[in-house]
Amino acid sequence: MPAITNQGLIARDAASVAGIEKLRFGPFAIQSGEGNTLITEDGRRLIDFSASWGAASLGHGHPAIVEAVTRTVRHMPSASILSTTHEPGVALAEKLLSLTPGGEDRRVWFGHSGSDANETIIRAVEAATGKKRVIAFIGAYHGGTALSMSVSGHTAQSHAAPRPGLFLLPYPNIYRPHFPGHVGEVALAQLDYLLATVCPPHDTAAIIFEAIQADGGLLVPPPGFIAAIAERAQRHGILLVCDEVKVGLARTGMMHAFDADGITPDLISFGKGLGGGLPLSAVVGPASILDRTTAFAMQTLCGNPVSCSAGLAVLETIEREKLAGNTAARGKQIMDGLKKLAEKHPLIGDIRGRGLAIGVELVANRTTKEPAGKACQKIVYRCFELGLLVFYVGMKSNVLELTPPLTLTEAEAAAGLAILDQAIDDVTQDRVPDAAIAAYAGW
Ligand SMILES: Cc1ncc(COP(=O)(O)O)c(C=O)c1O
Repeated sequence: MPAITNQGLIARDAASVAGIEKLRFGPFAIQSGEGNTLITEDGRRLIDFSASWGAASLGHGHPAIVEAVTRTVRHMPSASILSTTHEPGVALAEKLLSLTPGGEDRRVWFGHSGSDANETIIRAVEAATGKKRVIAFIGAYHGGTALSMSVSGHTAQSHAAPRPGLFLLPYPNIYRPHFPGHVGEVALAQLDYLLATVCPPHDTAAIIFEAIQADGGLLVPPPGFIAAIAERAQRHGILLVCDEVKVGLARTGMMHAFDADGITPDLISFGKGLGGGLPLSAVVGPASILDRTTAFAMQTLCGNPVSCSAGLAVLETIEREKLAGNTAARGKQIMDGLKKLAEKHPLIGDIRGRGLAIGVELVANRTTKEPAGKACQKIVYRCFELGLLVFYVGMKSNVLELTPPLTLTEAEAAAGLAILDQAIDDVTQDRVPDAAIAAYAGW
């Protein structure tokens, strides 16, 4: 084994790990994690304001996950739930059913990632309804598998063709309205027009949406918008599919992000934070849709008991440690702090979010709202140098995404804000050269 040094790991990574699975913002090499911090190869501690895009929901090495995973892996009750059932899988399915709203006769499908969960949903709703059309939103990232990608609407995926029968609507962007008029009403008018013309309800299987559009830039829709979508879906007999992969499970200060909208989706996809860092996803929905033929959406390691144990530990810890309350409190603390930063940093154009799903949109000019993509990249880079890990999203790559672990403490939130303040100052003062970020494409 070569000795691990920062440069060594980066170089070995470049020579061995395929670029198509990378999304890099700097020479970020991590040796270990502890609570809500990560430790770099050269021993520096980073406050984690990303949680690996929300996946490390309980931070790193949470005792509940360590205990559950260790206990299960020692006496593995098989490796899958395909042909033999086991306690961790059934217990997690029961827990998810108890935590989600919906009718009596529902089931849970298990997968490994948000992508396969959304892939399975689209396949299942088409098969169950016999309808070919699907409505989704511009800016949505629903996954990286063929079908989940083909119902997404993100510019980062413009290399992939949309599936036949897909109709994309603008997601309301309050800060940057795409069309004149009220952003919610404009999008709803477009939905109504589609349904009245080329996307008739009798051939429309589902509307898939996020209650907060994450990769599109942490867009929080206006009040009533999601409820109005749900009303249309119900009125027209179209299935309502909510993608809770990034913002679900206590991240927004409520158990589900859609709780803020007072709706009950027909199908819900979970991923990322559900596994607390282990590969795990789930779909919750009616048995009539999810109980399909053998080999319909099978993967050998579906319902892997170790991942299921981790998922159960995550859900129980969210309840036991009242983490939705923590995300609400820490979210308010960070929002208040960001508002103060906005008073002194003209780069900050908009701050939005709910709980610990926060977006900070950076602009070169507050009047023209010209996206400050390069400054955003540099801030992410400088934050890393100063001790904070944070990434960015958005269709213009200019929205810092703050999705720390749900367990973030008050002191960590304050320390992270202080670093962000310094990093924005350093970039504004031109202390980060272009060369520092030149090698990193971001997205
Ligand atoms: C809302 C949403 N859905 C689905 C996915 C896909 O999840 P995964 O990358 O775990 O497959 C993502 C990933 O960013 C996401 O943000």
